[in-house]
Amino acid sequence: MSAKPIIAPSILAADFSRLADEVGAIEGAADWVHVDVMDNHFVPNLTIGLPVVQSLRKATTIPFDVHLMITDPERWAPGYAEAGAYNVTFHAEACEDPVALAKTLRAAGSKAGLAIDRDTPVEPYLEMLPHFDTLLIMTIKAGFGGQKFMPEMLDKVRDVRRRIGAKDLSVRLEVDGGIAADTIAQAAEAGADAFVAGTAVYGAEDPAEAIHQLRALAVEAQSPHH
Ligand code: DX5
Ligand code: ZN
Repeated sequence: MSAKPIIAPSILAADFSRLADEVGAIEGAADWVHVDVMDNHFVPNLTIGLPVVQSLRKATTIPFDVHLMITDPERWAPGYAEAGAYNVTFHAEACEDPVALAKTLRAAGSKAGLAIDRDTPVEPYLEMLPHFDTLLIMTIKAGFGGQKFMPEMLDKVRDVRRRIGAKDLSVRLEVDGGIAADTIAQAAEAGADAFVAGTAVYGAEDPAEAIHQLRALAVEAQSPHH
């Protein structure tokens, strides 16, 4: 069974020159703020790093869901946990020993998340799930916002949901990429219970209202009478 849906707006689609205000606009509506950290190496794009996240942490009470699209997460990820991130997710493709880093993150005070990019199968990581609090399935290729949702990625979501159910694990199953009013229901039906949305929230006239709508669609898709 999926848990009550989490909506995590991605600040990648926000106005970076007014980041604190943009986060303020979703206070009271968003469950988490999704913070995309890109290093122009693991992905071609470049966003923000630890100093900005440290400053932004002071500007809001919303829990931070940090998505590290960086190489060498062993070196950098613990700093985000120490900066007060609620959850720190690093990429499976960038890490030699995901279980070791998950333990380090939990010891540093955050939840631990593992991200699976578009071209990476999920099977080799299913055994590691007990060491993680979140499993992030990319529904695009990581690197840029505003891409088209890939429904074929939902097979991975179903596989993970089945494993979570079989082993009775308490892992959040998160999807990221192209999540919007016309795609969130299928992701929820496949078993996702945390939803990143950049364009769908910050591209909307009223970001808080967009969040409420997305959450209602996810709840509806999860309901047994659906
Ligand atoms: C892309 C990022 C996503 C991005 C999603 O690599 O990980 O979090 O912001 O943006 P949308 O919702 O516009 O696809
Ligand atoms: Zn992301």
